[in-house]
Amino acid sequence: MTQRERVQTRFRAEFGDEPACIVRAPGRVNLIGEHTDYNDGFVFPMAIDRATYIALRPRADNKVLAISLDMDDRREFALDALPSPTETKWIDYLVGVAWSLQERGYDLRGWEGVVGGDVPIGSGLSSSAALELTTARAFYEVSAFEWDARSMALACQAAENAWLGVQCGIMDQMISAAGLRDRALLIDCRSLETASAPLPPDTVMVILDTNTRRGLVDSAYNERRAQCEAAARHFGVKALRDVDGDLFARRKQELAPVMRARARHVITENERTLRARAAMLAGDAATLGQLMIASHISLRDDFEVSSPALDAIVACANADAACYGARMTGAGFGGCAVALAGADGVESFLARVGACYRDATGNEPILTVTGASRGAEKIYP
Ligand code: GLA
Repeated sequence: MTQRERVQTRFRAEFGDEPACIVRAPGRVNLIGEHTDYNDGFVFPMAIDRATYIALRPRADNKVLAISLDMDDRREFALDALPSPTETKWIDYLVGVAWSLQERGYDLRGWEGVVGGDVPIGSGLSSSAALELTTARAFYEVSAFEWDARSMALACQAAENAWLGVQCGIMDQMISAAGLRDRALLIDCRSLETASAPLPPDTVMVILDTNTRRGLVDSAYNERRAQCEAAARHFGVKALRDVDGDLFARRKQELAPVMRARARHVITENERTLRARAAMLAGDAATLGQLMIASHISLRDDFEVSSPALDAIVACANADAACYGARMTGAGFGGCAVALAGADGVESFLARVGACYRDATGNEPILTVTGASRGAEKIYP
């Protein structure tokens, strides 16, 4: 059964009727441009074909009644008396998005429906952003406001920052809102302008899930953010986006070694990300792969957000002749890597990487080829 059928079937069983509509919003992988979004820099993610879905119908009152298939839970809240964040995280995302949209002046109506999907939780594929953007889309379908991908992404990011207390950047929400079929999206995280590019011919993007999850990601993430902000202050600029390679080369000795390494990652990663788009537009898989490999080394050595499992799976992929380049993706410390591989014989590539990673770590990886999907949308009727 597809995810769409899952939510639709449960909707019929709960409400005795067809849903008025079904909406979805995808998770993502980031091809390159890591830990650059909160430095006003460039990111290059792709919306994946795993998504969160909501089957719903409007309500006459101002309540939201949501049933979570994956959490086996059912919650209700009123739009004019939003419950404070609880420990039952999933509903907090819905409430947080309602809060954020209302804060921004959107006039919301109530709805009832079923939530479910296949973005794995906690593996670094942005299940949170997928849930937030699907929720925003559900409100859009029953209310009367304009859908604008940037505004929706910003509202959802604000929900995550202020309501859920996670200091994420804008990448995950932007790509879940604005993703394009068969294209990756270069996002300028200062202007939120986007430009797209297809994968090089005869290549595929592979998600290499290490099947490891690590705690303390949030505190390490916040520490990196603070270090980047301090480095920007040192250079007297708004964000590290404003420091180019020349300025950095001239003045890097002024920074303490750790800050210097953090700044070097961000500055070089921005350059790599822009070069990656040029390589993609030229259909140059070899160059794109080399940039991904350099990105991983920089994240591992300068930004220090990789992990032994991520390093192992990336090394297994990079050692394989079918692979152009692999790197960790997302915040790091565990979760997933991505690899650009030749489309021909990708199944045997997956088998070899799986065996290599099992040998190296004793863990069982989850390896999947992913297409690029569209951002938040209505898929039924
Ligand atoms: C997480 C955050 C994003 C981004 C990445 C690192 O996914 O939610 O905003 O900072 O980490 O690139």
